[in-house]
Order: sequence, then C-alpha cells, then structure tokens
Amino acid sequence: MRHNVILVSAVAVASLAAIASFAQVQGGDVQAADVTFLGQPVTGEQIALGQNIYAQNCASCHGANLEGQPDWKRRLENGRMPAPPHDESGHTWHHSDQDLFAITKLGVGGVVPGYESDMLAFGEILSDEEIAAVLAFIKSTWPERQREVQARITAKEGDGT
Ligand code: HEC
Repeated sequence: MRHNVILVSAVAVASLAAIASFAQVQGGDVQAADVTFLGQPVTGEQIALGQNIYAQNCASCHGANLEGQPDWKRRLENGRMPAPPHDESGHTWHHSDQDLFAITKLGVGGVVPGYESDMLAFGEILSDEEIAAVLAFIKSTWPERQREVQARITAKEGDGT
C-alpha cells in the first residue's frame, strides 16, 4: 500500500513538472529551448527570421514544408540531383552545423570542388547571421532523435567552421 502512495505521488509530481514545462513552452518558445547553432543557443526571434528566409530563398526548391523535390533520390536528366528534403526524411541532419553552414554559404560545388549542383551559393545573397537563422529554423523542425544525432555529429567536428 505504502508503495502505491509513493508511486502515486511520484506520478503527481512528474505530471506537475510536465504541466510546468508546458506552461513555460507556451510563454516562451518550445523549439528555441532545444536548438543550438554552432554551439550558440538559438532564440525564438532567430527561428522566426529563419522561417521567413526559408520561405523566400529555399522553399522554391526544398519545398514549402521542407519536403524536397518529388523523386528527389533520382538524378535529373541534366545529371544533377534534385533538391532533397530538409525534414527528417532527408539527410540534412546527417551533416554537422559547420558543414550545413558551408554548403549554404558556398553551395555544394564550393564545398566539393568540381561537383556540379543546382544548390546556390548564398554567400552573396544572405549574411552569415541570416544563414545561421535559416539553418536554426530547419533544425527546429526536426524530431528529438534527429536533433540528438545531428548534435553528436556537430560536437565531433569541434567548432571550426
Ligand atoms: C535553385 C534550387 C535551390 C534553392 C533555391 C536552394 N537549394 Fe539547397 N539544394 C538544392 C539542390 C539541388 C541540392 C542537392 C545538391 C546536390 O546534391 O547536388 C541542395 C542541397 C542543399 C543542402 C545539402 C543537403 C544534404 O542533405 O546534403 C543544404 C544544407 C541546402 N541545400 C540548404 C539550402 C538552404 C538553407 C537554402 C535557402 C537559403 C537552399 N538550400 C536553397 C537546390 C536548392
């Protein structure tokens, strides 16, 4: 009997904690709480900015819902690859923050010399802060597992960009 009482109160405490963190989430920002970019915590404002930048600069190829181009694993007739999704079904989360930043700033061809790709180099279009914001937005949409795996990949590379 005693056990049950302890168990019940433990559950009560746990659910109170859950309610408390839920309340916090509503007041603050759910997604920002767990997202870092290049080791820096990301704010809700950065994510909102990133969402706008995504809609204006990335959605045309990577999809309004980050779903990528249809049949994105199949090479196009021109020999290039279609734009992959940025959600968990793609492989964006297999890259470290450092690599994502470099790919977005320099284009895939800028990172892999001689590689022909339709991915633009955004270095002339977006500032470094804007690139960080759009990648933070993309990261904020990932489920926990993808976020964790990607955080480990990023940590392994150290913080050199
Ligand atoms: C003109 C179309 C186009 C636009 C616009 C575009 N991309 Fe891409 N992107 C691509 C293509 C195509 C690839 C695949 C490159 C390849 O493998 O050749 C790609 C690949 C990527 C990758 C590597 C993904 C991976 O899993 O390897 C990242 C990161 C990326 N894009 C980010 C962005 C961001 C951020 C924006 C907006 C700021 C953006 N892209 C806008 C076409 C585009």
